[in-house]
Amino acid sequence: MRIVLLGPPGAGKGTQAKLMHDRFGLSHIATGDLLRTAVAERTALGRAAQDYMERGELVPDGLVIDMIDERLQRNGRSDGFMLDGFPRTVAQAEALERWLAARGMPLDDVILLEVPREELVRRLSGRRTCRNCGAMYHVAFDRPAQAGVCDRCGGELYQRDDDREETIRARLAVYDNSTAPLADFYRARGLLREVDGTGEPAQVLDRIVAQLKGRH
Ligand code: AP5
Repeated sequence: MRIVLLGPPGAGKGTQAKLMHDRFGLSHIATGDLLRTAVAERTALGRAAQDYMERGELVPDGLVIDMIDERLQRNGRSDGFMLDGFPRTVAQAEALERWLAARGMPLDDVILLEVPREELVRRLSGRRTCRNCGAMYHVAFDRPAQAGVCDRCGGELYQRDDDREETIRARLAVYDNSTAPLADFYRARGLLREVDGTGEPAQVLDRIVAQLKGRH
């Protein structure tokens, strides 16, 4: 399966991608994670991307497209994937389409997770992430047993720089302007599946699986 997970910041793309990875074994390719690693490692890409990310703006298309090109090549032909956070602009979607068409590997489905705006802000402002293993928590909905410590690996939990309320609002505005038009792009290709992203993560997963059933 080759799937794109689409949705605004906080819609649960990363959460659902991890659940889908556990269930179907698909590679989870998240441009946000790849970029945060590049920033932490101070690579040329990371140094170029850092300021954009801290402001909640998109990293320029050329940089992200080169990064994903390299990552998809490593993934190989036969393995499926879930793309989380890519594409985010029409230019990125067109580049992905060309890349996949050249290899005879079309997308199967695009899942659009829909969540009301205030819920997105609540989710993101309370998110905490493990520095060590990347596990996610929420200060109200999904607390670790000990505050600030990851249940899985004992690593330190931190708040992402772009999860402050002002930056969250900026990211949502960027989504509306640059990424929301992708729903029409994929609807026109018959690939878009709209999924209610509210409720428990396991319920959302069930809805996604119900959408995929019958086609795979
Ligand atoms: P990125 O890391 O992709 O961030 P995002 O798209 O803003 O998405 P998030 O990770 O914030 O949210 P999510 O939908 O994955 O939700 P999650 O599952 O974590 O990008 C960061 C930055 O990198 C961008 O701003 C940009 O600068 C740059 N970038 C990345 N890709 C790019 C690209 N293609 N082009 C250009 N620039 C790019 O869940 C959020 C919280 O909600 C968690 O606390 C979770 O526990 C909780 N939660 C999840 N599901 C539920 C539920 N069902 N009920 C209750 N709580 C839930």
